[in-house]
Amino acid sequence: MGSSIYDLKVIINNAEKKEKPTFLSRAEAEKALRFHQTIAEYRPTPLVSLEHLAGWLGVAGIYIKDESKRFGLNAFKALGGTYAMAKIISRKLGLSDQELDFGYLSSPEAREKAGQITFVTATDGNHGLGVAWGARRLGQKAVVYLPKGTAQARVDVIQETGSEALVTEMNYDDTVRLAMQKAEEKGWHLVQDSAWEGYTGVPTWIMQGYMTMIYEALEQIRESKLKLPTHIFLQCGVGSMPAAVLGFLVNDGETEDIKAVILEPHNAACVYHSAAQKDGKRHAVGGDLETIMAGLACGVPNLLAWEILRDFSFAFVSLEDFFAARGMRLLGHPSGNDPRIISGESGAVGIGLLSLLMEKPELAPVREQLGFAADSRVLVLNTEGDTDPKNYRDVIWDGRYPLPLARELTFYLDRA
Ligand SMILES: Cc1ncc(COP(=O)(O)O)c(C=O)c1O
Repeated sequence: MGSSIYDLKVIINNAEKKEKPTFLSRAEAEKALRFHQTIAEYRPTPLVSLEHLAGWLGVAGIYIKDESKRFGLNAFKALGGTYAMAKIISRKLGLSDQELDFGYLSSPEAREKAGQITFVTATDGNHGLGVAWGARRLGQKAVVYLPKGTAQARVDVIQETGSEALVTEMNYDDTVRLAMQKAEEKGWHLVQDSAWEGYTGVPTWIMQGYMTMIYEALEQIRESKLKLPTHIFLQCGVGSMPAAVLGFLVNDGETEDIKAVILEPHNAACVYHSAAQKDGKRHAVGGDLETIMAGLACGVPNLLAWEILRDFSFAFVSLEDFFAARGMRLLGHPSGNDPRIISGESGAVGIGLLSLLMEKPELAPVREQLGFAADSRVLVLNTEGDTDPKNYRDVIWDGRYPLPLARELTFYLDRA
């Protein structure tokens, strides 16, 4: 599988750092966090330090922020969708940001004032579940479109919330266009986790909602008296999540130099592809976007996210599916006293890459260019658990997507 003759492609980013994204400030993150704290299921997700694995791989620290525990939904995504829906409803009610309260917004009084709203979105699974779950909890409706080939388990969990989940005959990006059309035709509210010309308000709120994850992680690192990370892996679909996290980091003097490594599967590497064009513009990739990292199977970068990723990322990486499978196995079968982490395809890819960079002699030039050494501390966001349980078993039990053991791994290294 994979469209590339290389297992791994890396662009080291030499871009001039530009204007910092003010919409991803600490003050905005605190607003979003305050809102999330009003959701009954809210708990900070765990941050764990995998000391044994770090020692084994020869780095100083590996910290995992385990978003599989978020709201009981097995992925981080509801942080964005709930915040955006709350903002939409609160605008209808004329409430200020200080009055954003999930309990109140889901009360009969607020529902009566706001009237019946139908939220619509397209999703490769996790975002749609967040919207479906949030909408139902708010007493509103949601219609969720999914691309062809979506695992049945992802459809089922959305339907279990009581929302409609419809699988299309199209890839992810065409499914987004369909959701957009439906919103216009039927007067529904589009809650899409990507931005384009003329559609930036909702995605801004979604990105602000994602900042809760990195805000909590840095608080937990400080509380545990761990040293700040030197690197962070950010797995990238349309780029909203990685740009939200990176935007937050660069807005703070203490964290602005953390090296952000953007990760995408070969067949859906739209941000890598945009960086490779070296014209500063975002570029799409097409086709079926086939990868086991379903959450990253997106071909068009978010307009707002692209500029942040272009200006502040340390490196762009495009890789084969077996990196993710290796990460799933490593986290699912810990060594020493490290805790077990159930990590799905998109959540595990960073650990898969780190492990092979540190272990494979043939990848030494890439390891050096990315600056991984004995004093590196790496933060990984486990953005999902086993959201595709069948593939999880195939990988963990049956060793599907194995390493190509009979040959050396191949890479391509470039600068932008
Ligand atoms: C588990 C998981 N990780 C990472 C991402 C990437 O987020 P984004 O599309 O905002 O780049 C997604 C997106 O759906 C996801 O589901």
